[in-house]
Order: sequence, then structure tokens, then C-alpha cells
Amino acid sequence: MLQKQPIGVFDSGYGGLTVLKEIVKKMPEYDYLYLGDNARAPYGNRSFETVYQYTLQCVEKLFAMNCSLVIIACNTASAKALRNIQQVDLPKKHPDKRVLGVIRPTTEIVGKYSKTGHVGVLGTKGTIASNSYPIEIEKFFPELNVYQEACPMWVPLVENNEINSIAADYFVKQNLDNLFAKSDKIDTIILGCTHYPLLAEKIKKHIPENLTLLSQGEIVAKSLADYLKRHPEMEACCSKGSSIDFYTSDSEENFNEAASVFFGKEVKSKHLSF
Ligand code: DGL
Repeated sequence: MLQKQPIGVFDSGYGGLTVLKEIVKKMPEYDYLYLGDNARAPYGNRSFETVYQYTLQCVEKLFAMNCSLVIIACNTASAKALRNIQQVDLPKKHPDKRVLGVIRPTTEIVGKYSKTGHVGVLGTKGTIASNSYPIEIEKFFPELNVYQEACPMWVPLVENNEINSIAADYFVKQNLDNLFAKSDKIDTIILGCTHYPLLAEKIKKHIPENLTLLSQGEIVAKSLADYLKRHPEMEACCSKGSSIDFYTSDSEENFNEAASVFFGKEVKSKHLSF
């Protein structure tokens, strides 16, 4: 039997499962390997150097498990580590492997949604401080005005299953009020964190009905499908057995319980130590 060559999907924890879910929905034929670095999550408030080292270690693990193509399904890691990995580590150590992130696919299309030219970005402290979204959006849509808001309480709310609590209402409203105080013309908001789609219903309660809320799952899935079409040499490195293997750096029991909320299906993970 030929050895599996799964597409690797990495996140600091559970959030990337919202992206994997959409990728699998669009392309169920491939083999996938998900790695959540739950033991060291969240990455959101960590320094550039730490996020880079952790992300590189996880990407190396996925390469060692026979992935040739890895998706960093975490905004914080995409913002802080992806460029270095693509420009320094891959050419030096793995010239035949590829690593893609979640920020670029979103910034490539955001301009198609905004009529006012005012776009909001919500993310972790790390993602917002990196300025990755305004920098990337400028490349594709220089005419857009981008306003950002860090929402450091949102990931803990989701991770602690407090999505429907009064506390969630309070913090979601507070951050949205802060964002709209920067511009009342915002008509498109990017959910720049893989946890935030789970708060989408709560967010919709606090924004005008005609505002566009962009979640990354479907966008990244479509972008990956396009990538595989444009890069047949990489597509040939992805085996098609319709399997999904889940790995976590923390306890399997904890992961399985929480992961099903993000993935929408039962998940059985294996522990991976570093
Ligand atoms: N997955 C991360 C992101 O998309 C959020 C969780 C974390 O802070 O590690 O930014």
C-alpha cells in the first residue's frame, strides 16, 4: 500500500478546526492531518519569537509525518511566523515543501465586499499588533481604509464554552463599539481569528443587518482548491484516501471533547509530544 501523504493543517489549538471543516467539505477526497498545539495555546498574547519557534516546531512535525503541504490555520501564527518560515526555513531545509497561511486568502478578496471602502478587522492582540491585515490589504486594495480591534477576551470565552453567556455579550459589544468608534462607515468585517466564527451569531446581534461578516473557513478552502489546481506538482504530493487524523500536544480526552464543537463532528485524537 502506498504511504499516506496528508495535507497538514496546524493551529495553536482548536480554532483551526473551523477551517479544516470547510476544507474537508470542499475537498473530501484528500487525506488530512490536523495538529493542535493545545499544550502551549493560546498563542494570541505571545511574543513574535515564541510564536515563530512554536509554529516552526509544529510545521517540522507535520513534515516529519509526511505532509508536503501545510496550512497554518491560525491567524496569530500566520501573522507572526509564516513569512520567516516561507522565506528562510523552507528554502534552507525543505525546498520541496510548502506552507500557506490564512491571512492572504482573506485579504485578496475583501475589497469585493466593501462598498464604503471601510473595512474592520477583529483578531487577537498578536494578529492586530503585527499589522498583517492592513499591510496585506494594501497590496490588493490600496484604496481601502482598514480599522482594527484586538479582542483578547474572545478566545478564552470560546475555549471555556461561554459563547452564550452574558459575559460574551458584554465583551463582543464592547469590542464592536470600539471598532465602530474608529469608523461608522465600516460595512465589512473580517473575523481574523479562527475561534471567532463560533461567536458569529452573537456578533450579528450587535451589528447592522446589511454588514458583511467574513469568516475564513470557506475562503481558505476555496483558495486551497485554486492553489492545488495551479500547482499540479504539489497536488501530486497529496494522497487521496479521505482520511482525517487528529493530533494534539495536550491530553486526548480534553481535545476530543472540545474539538467536536469546532469541527461539528466527533473527533478522536492522538497525543503528540515534542
Ligand atoms: N487560532 C488563533 C488565531 O486564529 C487564536 C487562538 C490563540 O490565541 O492561540 O489567531
